[in-house]
Amino acid sequence: MRSTGKGRCEQNDTPHSAARIETQKMETLEAISGRRMYRGRLDERKLEEEVLERLVAAAGWAPSGHNSQPWEFVIVDDDALIERIAEIATANFDNFLATGSHLLQWVRNFLPWLRWSARELEIRGDGIFFERWSRSDWEALGRLKDEEPIRARMIEMFGSRGRPSILIRSAPCLVFTLLDTTRKIPDCSNDTMALTSVGAAMQNFRLAAHDLGVAVHEQSVLYDLPETRAAISGLLRIPGHLEIVGGMRLGYPAEASKSSHSHVRRPANSVTHRNGY
Ligand SMILES: Cc1cc2nc3c(=O)[nH]c(=O)nc-3n(C[C@H](O)[C@H](O)[C@H](O)COP(=O)(O)O)c2cc1C
Repeated sequence: MRSTGKGRCEQNDTPHSAARIETQKMETLEAISGRRMYRGRLDERKLEEEVLERLVAAAGWAPSGHNSQPWEFVIVDDDALIERIAEIATANFDNFLATGSHLLQWVRNFLPWLRWSARELEIRGDGIFFERWSRSDWEALGRLKDEEPIRARMIEMFGSRGRPSILIRSAPCLVFTLLDTTRKIPDCSNDTMALTSVGAAMQNFRLAAHDLGVAVHEQSVLYDLPETRAAISGLLRIPGHLEIVGGMRLGYPAEASKSSHSHVRRPANSVTHRNGY
């Protein structure tokens, strides 16, 4: 899959050459289906400038409504800043878990997407395999009427001493994706066009990373709480017209990808409707 020149368009290729279409199709499709979200430890090596430039350039080739390119990226590879970001994100998440009366609902929203074995994951074709707690643990939590017993366990797993936090702290690089609100399409009544455009850029970024052997891990704890977005925007001096819409760790992988997170999808024919739904 790594760039070999194979499948690239030679100048004297005829555009409809069957052989060329075949090789090009193979490389692209393999890259698309072979990309994985990496949840393991990253090597402490920093990413080379040239690699970062190529990732952002690949993102920029995404299509966008009116060619508006409503995206920007903030690369953070300063260790002190990464540490501070990890503190902000996970302290806010601790606070989210420790206060308020949303926790039971949060667990119940989570439950439909949890799978308990690789087999179940494969049959369903969606969701995530959550091996650290059993089904009965989670289901018992979902049945609780009182959220107090849940808090400590949730904080232990997802909070500032949990694995997501450790993974952020030890990352050599974080990248935040920004939506430029001044580049939203004015006559589009909601943000769909801008957001789908940014999504295309993010996927280009991930596919380019896959091509270059760079592991990427989207971590929503970096941006899903409004107070986290506000604090990180302040820390990174992000102007007010730019909204954080994505946050990821990236670097060179330091361990094999966990097999428990199998790569599954719903079959194409189960999501396709022809001539009407
Ligand atoms: C917007 C978005 C947010 C995500 N947030 C997280 C996250 O917080 N933690 C995590 O481990 N994976 C996260 N993921 C990764 C997904 O779980 C993953 O893409 C999905 O399970 C499919 O696996 P694959 O990307 O390896 O094919 C996120 C992915 C996206 C697109």
